[in-house]
Amino acid sequence: MELRQLGTRGPWISPIGLGSTKFGRREGVKYPKSFTLPSDGQLANLLAVAKEWGINLVDTAPAYGSSEARIGALIGADSHWRIATKVGETFVDGRSCFDFSPTAIRASVENSRRQLRRDVVDIVLLHMPDDDVSIMRDGAALATLLELRDQGLITAIGASTKNVRAGLMAAEQCDLVMITLNPADQSQRPVLAAARNAGKGILIKKPLDSGHHIDVGVALAGLVREPGVGSVIVGTIDPGHLADNCAVVRRALADE
Ligand SMILES: NC(=O)c1ccc[n+]([C@@H]2O[C@H](COP(=O)([O-])OP(=O)(O)OC[C@H]3O[C@@H](n4cnc5c(N)ncnc54)[C@H](OP(=O)(O)O)[C@@H]3O)[C@@H](O)[C@H]2O)c1
Repeated sequence: MELRQLGTRGPWISPIGLGSTKFGRREGVKYPKSFTLPSDGQLANLLAVAKEWGINLVDTAPAYGSSEARIGALIGADSHWRIATKVGETFVDGRSCFDFSPTAIRASVENSRRQLRRDVVDIVLLHMPDDDVSIMRDGAALATLLELRDQGLITAIGASTKNVRAGLMAAEQCDLVMITLNPADQSQRPVLAAARNAGKGILIKKPLDSGHHIDVGVALAGLVREPGVGSVIVGTIDPGHLADNCAVVRRALADE
């Protein structure tokens, strides 16, 4: 798969990326079916299949349970991989806790560098709660990420937003945005347009509506051809689904 640069500061990434919520967390998720966490062997196989197809981006977060630590152990040392992680949310004793203070953000990035076994983290995003506009308005969280980027600990910074207003602020102030876009939810299109016009990076989350929309052909083929989109992050722990998704993307890009 031909790599694309994520905005002007971000790394070169594959048009489809691997979402890793299901690598490390089963509670408090919105998937249609329950599942068991993959074993280390199954995860190693999934990542090997992804790499064979040309995927080089995996998206994780401290809030995804053991996901960061497992990714670090399996691929942290492999320079093929670009890794995106987040700050601001943790998932403890079955519930989400949010802390966007500069102290918490510095500690979170320090912990992610350790878990991922990377001196420099490729991408760090604000992992936004419902009231993401307040976090953007306050500005301290973003200023701290910018400081860490300028210290050389992060390559590109952004925000995984929920509301259009916060997405527009992130598109202006960050290197990249992560937004939801799928056939059932087109509400973030204004953010897509603003980020594209500003030359910022765009990552798509929940492209299959977290598994509630599984017409993979329709959803993924459209998204990877959407101008400005850097990578479409599809969550899966099934190597067969992963191969199907990559085949759809490869065909859609070949047909362009
Ligand atoms: N706030 C945030 O920052 C945020 C929020 C949500 C998500 N994300 C990121 O975005 C990623 C993607 O979002 P998501 O995982 O919520 O949803 P998604 O990618 O829209 O859908 C994932 C679901 O679709 C299923 N699936 C994948 N490929 C399939 C196929 N070919 N056929 C049938 N089912 C298929 C998966 O099940 P199988 O495992 O069985 O394939 C999984 O249950 C996450 O993993 C995470 O990295 C970020």
